[in-house]
Amino acid sequence: LTTRRFRFNVEWKKVSRLCHTKPLLTVNGQYPGPTIAVHEGDNVEIKVTNRVEENTTIHWHGIRQFRTGWADGPAYITQCPIRGGQSYTYKFTVVDQRGTLLWHAHYSWQRASVYGAFIIYPRMPRPFSSPPIRAEIPIIFGEWWNSDVDSVENEMIKYGAGPISSDAYTINGLPGPLYPCSNKDTFIRTIEFGKTYMLRIINAALNDELFFAIANHTLTVVEIDAVYTKPFTTTAIMIAPGQTTTVLMTANQVPDRSGMFAMAARPYLTSVFPFNNSTSLGFLRYKKLGSGKIKSLNSLQVHNLPLMEDTAFVTKFSDNLRSLASAQFPCNVPKSINKRVIVTISLNLQDCPKNETCKGFNGKRFYASMNNQSFVRPPTSILECHYKNLTTGIFSSDFPEKPPNAFDYTGVDPLTENMNTEFGTKLLVVPYGTSIEIVLQDTSFLNVENHPIHVHGHNFFIVGRGFGNFDQAKHPVEYNLVDPPERNTVAVPSGGWAAIRIKADNPGVWFVHCHLEEHTTWGLAMVFIVKNGPGPSQTVIPPPQDLPLC
Ligand code: C2O
Repeated sequence: LTTRRFRFNVEWKKVSRLCHTKPLLTVNGQYPGPTIAVHEGDNVEIKVTNRVEENTTIHWHGIRQFRTGWADGPAYITQCPIRGGQSYTYKFTVVDQRGTLLWHAHYSWQRASVYGAFIIYPRMPRPFSSPPIRAEIPIIFGEWWNSDVDSVENEMIKYGAGPISSDAYTINGLPGPLYPCSNKDTFIRTIEFGKTYMLRIINAALNDELFFAIANHTLTVVEIDAVYTKPFTTTAIMIAPGQTTTVLMTANQVPDRSGMFAMAARPYLTSVFPFNNSTSLGFLRYKKLGSGKIKSLNSLQVHNLPLMEDTAFVTKFSDNLRSLASAQFPCNVPKSINKRVIVTISLNLQDCPKNETCKGFNGKRFYASMNNQSFVRPPTSILECHYKNLTTGIFSSDFPEKPPNAFDYTGVDPLTENMNTEFGTKLLVVPYGTSIEIVLQDTSFLNVENHPIHVHGHNFFIVGRGFGNFDQAKHPVEYNLVDPPERNTVAVPSGGWAAIRIKADNPGVWFVHCHLEEHTTWGLAMVFIVKNGPGPSQTVIPPPQDLPLC
């Protein structure tokens, strides 16, 4: 077995975009951060040194962290933060995963600039061996704020308001020419006619689901969240924050005199709302076929990019995502379950505390919740408390397994119902090996976007999805138990539901949350504990020596 070692220094770096220069939190001064590339089965050791005053942690998003929750990264869930001047080495093994993932900071809103690609090369040949792949192209989406992201976060917490939009979407850290002062900050990649490329597409944006397309070209999806899919060809993709999509693209189009084709990313929202709906552009340049000069610029050059509210496209696209389910790469969806948990995901409105100003809605402020529980992080690491059996006063094991009131779209006025939430640290505890189904029901107050729900430490299978109410009598019989997509982040349809199945085979403490950072900030999160199993390889390993203390 190979051990691959990396060094991450978290440090400030002056970066300019959109005519604004500001210190940006980075890893090794890079924005986006360095790529981690390993092989399936490798041991990985990443020494993170915090060279700033602020706390930090890093999360390897989608890595299973089998028994090694200490290396997962979310602050106060699996570790205390790495303080200024301290180092912590994340050690884990990459087991039975292959493809594209990402890493990002998991402390307050630091992932706005602290993120990068995590690539796992397969040990076995890929199931899509032809045509040969000429090269890989990383396409990492992010967001740029002209102001300091800490102050954006603090305002959101203080006023209970949002969304506070970023100033630009970025492709590989570059906004592209539709934004002010950004002509030279445009991602351009040279390709050769007739060759096929593998695009590793990562959505590291904080708060937006995005559409992505390349003018005239089609994309063949072959893998999502480091799991192979049945290949399918599409004119565009939709990708939620925390998701990754690997596509093949053949350079088979005849360019005009410029030799260039635009690529574009812009948000998917389900209704018109005063969000930022601007577009980030990049370009593919056909080698030796044109001047490389673009005359007119507008997002319409990418005519195959869906419109902002194209839910029909998203539904069709999501339906096309299927596990490969081959003999070599089987789909291990639990065919039966031990437990079904119904979880409503909501935005909530609360009265404004006296002498405070709230800017949410109707003079109130927003929170967010799962089963009307707004998750509160404790002041110390839950995993450490669980491991040492010191849980009193830190958390309780009584996360409700259904909502306080059965949610019903047909019976409620979303503006008045389901508004209240409790605050606390309630956990769901399950025995090792439990096959659990979680039905995520969006209650859709402010029906504007999907909630990308991310589960740490496990992949899951999306066995069903729909609009309106989940119906326990009707929907389970229609589940796909043959080739449902396997992933770590599911975009729960706005005004609808998604049912996911998880084999709880990874002992430890695992965060579940909306990957829209503003919703996590408001409490749209929960934690589940998978207890140790009876076998020697079914327990959490002891904590590392250098684990940060609170
Ligand atoms: Cu990518 Cu808990 O997050």
